[in-house]
Amino acid sequence: MAFAVRPSLDYDRSEDLKAFDETKAGVKGLVDAGIEKIPRIFVRPADELARDYPISDAHLMIPVIDLGLPTCRRSTVVEAVRRASETLGFFQVVNHGIPTSVLGKMLTAARGFHELPKEVKMGFYTREEERKVKFNSNFDLYQSPSANWRDTLFCVMDPEPPIPEELPQICRDITMEYSKQIKRLGSSLFELLSEALGLRADCLTSFDCAKGHAILSHYYPACPEPELAMGTSKHCDPDFLTILLQDDIGGLQVLHENQWISVPPVPGGLVVNIGDLLQLMSNDKFMSVEHRVLANHVGPRVSVACFFTPHLYPSTRMYGPIKDLLSEDNPPIYRETSVKDFIAYYDSKGLDGNSALTYFKLSRSY
Ligand code: OGA
Ligand code: NI
Repeated sequence: MAFAVRPSLDYDRSEDLKAFDETKAGVKGLVDAGIEKIPRIFVRPADELARDYPISDAHLMIPVIDLGLPTCRRSTVVEAVRRASETLGFFQVVNHGIPTSVLGKMLTAARGFHELPKEVKMGFYTREEERKVKFNSNFDLYQSPSANWRDTLFCVMDPEPPIPEELPQICRDITMEYSKQIKRLGSSLFELLSEALGLRADCLTSFDCAKGHAILSHYYPACPEPELAMGTSKHCDPDFLTILLQDDIGGLQVLHENQWISVPPVPGGLVVNIGDLLQLMSNDKFMSVEHRVLANHVGPRVSVACFFTPHLYPSTRMYGPIKDLLSEDNPPIYRETSVKDFIAYYDSKGLDGNSALTYFKLSRSY
């Protein structure tokens, strides 16, 4: 037994985390320095690896929903949204109204930012909570059991966008444009989701679900030892809804019935998933499902996630299960929370593989 604890004695993880953070160069900086073995802070704990779920070889499980159907087919769309939201928590959309050229430019600009000279990017590196525009590697670097092979540029764009000069010039105009378009798409998705819950089309927007979003540009450099690390650890999203634009590399997986299912890139498509706050509001009718991104020998992989959440602009509004959905047979599962309290709890926990929602259950068992 003495030997079992020995290795950790000569390994000061927090020193290593701090040293990595202080480079302000992220994972990309390590790769540029030519490392061939991943630093220990990125290695997934052995017990996590041992407990991992198998990867399913089932393909095309995640439905692709055509939003371009004529109005007379709306009920078909609502039904498809309902089915996906109740089971997988994920679907993809095509003919969503955002031109392919805008998607392409957004991905190119996101990649462009992460491939700027280190000295330029360092100016944006920060962990200050209040900043609208921040670049860093692993928002939960100091909380999570292992660091992820990923860097992120985080931009709070709505309800109050940053002044344009705050955004890196290389992605300034397209991020503004993408934000405008994604807000419109978000609003129509919230209408579909409201109807899918059996509520009036404007229900979720009346709770301000479409008011406020952040755009996260993720960069997953090629990894020399992808079997030892994760691109993004298993997690649920701390928002109402997420719309994700991914490039053609792949690696996003969703947990369904104890198996990991791939979300294959669909040209021109966008991935949509239910966030924790919508699961809470729907009283578990809609599922915020765990997902992750694999590290890969091939890279970089670039993705742009839009989180619908008021984040820096939380109102005092309390969110709980929507009253119209509740009945004697369907009593509330969750207590009410403000978005601020929810996010504070989520962030304090880090991506540790457990759902933040458990903490907000009325009868907690943990
Ligand atoms: C996220 C996320 C997936 C991806 O940002 O929460 O799950 O493909 N991203 O980058
Ligand atoms: Ni996510």
